[in-house]
Amino acid sequence: MISNRFAKWNLIAISALLLLVYFGIETNGRSPELLRFFGRLHPAIVHFPIAIITLALILALLNRFRWVLIPDNVINICLILGSWTGVKAILAGSWLAQTGGYPADILFLHKVIGYGATSLCAASVFFRTSHAAMFKKPIVGVLTWSLMVIGLVVGGDLGGQITHGKGYVTQYAPGFVVSVLGHSDPMKERFDLSEPGITTIFEGIILPILTEKCSSCHGNSPREGRLNLASREGIKSNKGDDPLIVAAKPEESLLFQRLSLPEGHEDQMPPPLRAKPISFADVELIKWWISEGASFEQLISDSHISTTVGTILQAYGLGEIRTGVFALNIPVPDSAKVNAIRLKGVGIDILAEGENLVAVTCKVVSSCFSSEMDSLSQQVTWLDLRGSDVTDSDLNKLSSFPHLTRINLSDTSINGSGLAALGGLAFLEYLNLYDTKISDTSLEHITAVKTLTAVYLWQTAVTPEGISMLRAALPDAEIDTGELKN
Ligand code: HEC
Repeated sequence: MISNRFAKWNLIAISALLLLVYFGIETNGRSPELLRFFGRLHPAIVHFPIAIITLALILALLNRFRWVLIPDNVINICLILGSWTGVKAILAGSWLAQTGGYPADILFLHKVIGYGATSLCAASVFFRTSHAAMFKKPIVGVLTWSLMVIGLVVGGDLGGQITHGKGYVTQYAPGFVVSVLGHSDPMKERFDLSEPGITTIFEGIILPILTEKCSSCHGNSPREGRLNLASREGIKSNKGDDPLIVAAKPEESLLFQRLSLPEGHEDQMPPPLRAKPISFADVELIKWWISEGASFEQLISDSHISTTVGTILQAYGLGEIRTGVFALNIPVPDSAKVNAIRLKGVGIDILAEGENLVAVTCKVVSSCFSSEMDSLSQQVTWLDLRGSDVTDSDLNKLSSFPHLTRINLSDTSINGSGLAALGGLAFLEYLNLYDTKISDTSLEHITAVKTLTAVYLWQTAVTPEGISMLRAALPDAEIDTGELKN
């Protein structure tokens, strides 16, 4: 028979041991190899208390519903064994945690639950023997056992997360389990990429990777004079012999080198066995950041995104990247002015739903380049003057529409001398000069516009030599020459 006196001394002994382990095993210390070996057994050892506590619960249930009569004594013995094996698991766990590389916040919670469940075992035997009548009350029984079960489930889940990463336990779980345990899609949660136009590569992608994978060892509080990868300031302050980061040259950056070593290399980071490995995708993102100049300010939307990087970022929920004029904050067009212009026979269309950019079509240039149109100078993006009476001297008006991306001047009598006005258009991509009197002499105005991606010169006076010169000056642009094509 487990007496209350025995249960009391058991509780005192367990509490004393737990305090000893808590204060005796230094979190950041280094234990001898044999103890680290014992630490590695934690995942195996921890199943003893779990099994014994579960057995105690089953026996208590059998008793409660009077299916099988189990003496209280047997349940108490199970709980006492639960408390001692719990201490053993905590001891091993503490030595395992010492080897480092575990996420501190999850580890802390996991520890609290381990200590809590172990103390609860010892304490409940004490109260079961001192206040037996009270423990017969369903409410007390249900409360203590529920606490125990929640502890085991949540503690086990956290343990799974520590060794296998967030989402491991719930990956195949039904929806309600996922919501009870409070997990959501880890892919969408990891980085905040919903607004690439205001998120920097560093804050949005790189720092979260370094925090997750490296800062348990390379944190803000320098241990053994180690590298600090936990913050922008930390990274900037590192002064090793080899450069940590060489902007635009990942191969020369220690940060990338250490991540791309062959499996088993002694310098491999994170150190194998002691920390969770880093994925190819994460290494690829770090390489991308360094290639892009390792800037702390560069926005995701301002970067060159290769297919590989694009695929990775898509998987993490990258939002729409707005570039060129679409990245600008264009005010809503004044509808009274728009109507006034339309009344003059000028076509004005909204470029795309939800955008304030407009496309303008007109045949009589005097009605198009009017004072009302000046009020739309921010919004005009496409200008279609095909077949209109536009002259070269009208073209200097083009510079009052800085957001033009497409201009169609085909089938007009211009000779190109007015195209100098194109120089001020920072977004111009498309220029149609088909069936005009453009000649080689005005090509210099076109070559000056480096943003051009398509130029139409069919049926003009431009010579094949002029075309080659243009192609050399704008290698990325498509130069369409109709019958001149060779
Ligand atoms: C489990 C602890 C641990 C983790 C996690 C870890 N490192 Fe290390 N790292 C070390 C130790 C210890 C050293 C120093 C010994 C050495 O140079 O190998 C080191 C050295 C380095 C160095 C060389 C520093 C120098 O000046 O020579 C780099 C670079 C580095 N780590 C990068 C990383 C990156 C990036 C990550 C995350 C992806 C990471 N480490 C994760 C423990 C760790």
